[in-house]
Amino acid sequence: MASMLETGGPIGVFDSGIGGLSVLQALCTALPNEQFVYFADAAHAPYGEKGDAFVRHRSLDITQQLRAQYGIKALVVACNTATAAAITDLRRLHPNLIIVGIEPALKPAAAHSQNKRVTVFATQGTLASSKFKQLLAEQSAFALFTCIACDGLAQAIERHRDDLNHADIITLVYQYAAAAHLSDTVVLGCTHYPLVKPVFEAALAPHTYIVDNGASVAKRLYERLHSKALLQAASTRGTSAAGAAVTANQTVTYLSSAAVKIAQ
Ligand code: DGL
Repeated sequence: MASMLETGGPIGVFDSGIGGLSVLQALCTALPNEQFVYFADAAHAPYGEKGDAFVRHRSLDITQQLRAQYGIKALVVACNTATAAAITDLRRLHPNLIIVGIEPALKPAAAHSQNKRVTVFATQGTLASSKFKQLLAEQSAFALFTCIACDGLAQAIERHRDDLNHADIITLVYQYAAAAHLSDTVVLGCTHYPLVKPVFEAALAPHTYIVDNGASVAKRLYERLHSKALLQAASTRGTSAAGAAVTANQTVTYLSSAAVKIAQ
């Protein structure tokens, strides 16, 4: 219930793994007085190659648990694949919870592109979704989009999270980046990919503009919290959850897959 939400509750953020950390970074910058609970579902990654039903079940279970266990006041689905598969159901089942998802940044890419050729890198799941197809249809009036499903890339980033310059990542990025040779703008439409942005920069033609929606998600969440008077002021911040300090006023609690059992 909206009336039960307190400004002191944390913000839940989830992804199939570490990808959502690219969004969390933007959230921490935009919302310096908030607490975050970040759920990395690494045991069930990659979402992008698992199919809609699986990702939807997982997203619903994670959200349920974040609400029950942490009393989250807002949820960020920091995963393009999970947003495409589950956001409609999440909003239906949690009508009073502020829920912000992420989708590939086609609109800013089309607006920025000079030659009106944009390449979109995303997961199979995202590209196959009806939500993405609708977005693509809307934006196709403004640019010519080439969409590339980067199979294996999110998984390689998960596997080599301690070495994001690993040869497996470089090989895959160069392989997929070749398809973007006519585009002056590319979209990183999976939250894992900004974590290896320097590899994309090296693989793409010089001066290619690379865009993702992390900062706009943070901006949208700020606006939603502000409009409901749910932003936490620095002076009224309550006791923080256990976790690593991010700024003096901020904490992030990290959870792993074991915290939420898979739906049967
Ligand atoms: N990070 C997720 C996204 O934004 C998905 C990666 C995966 O396939 O698990 O789509």
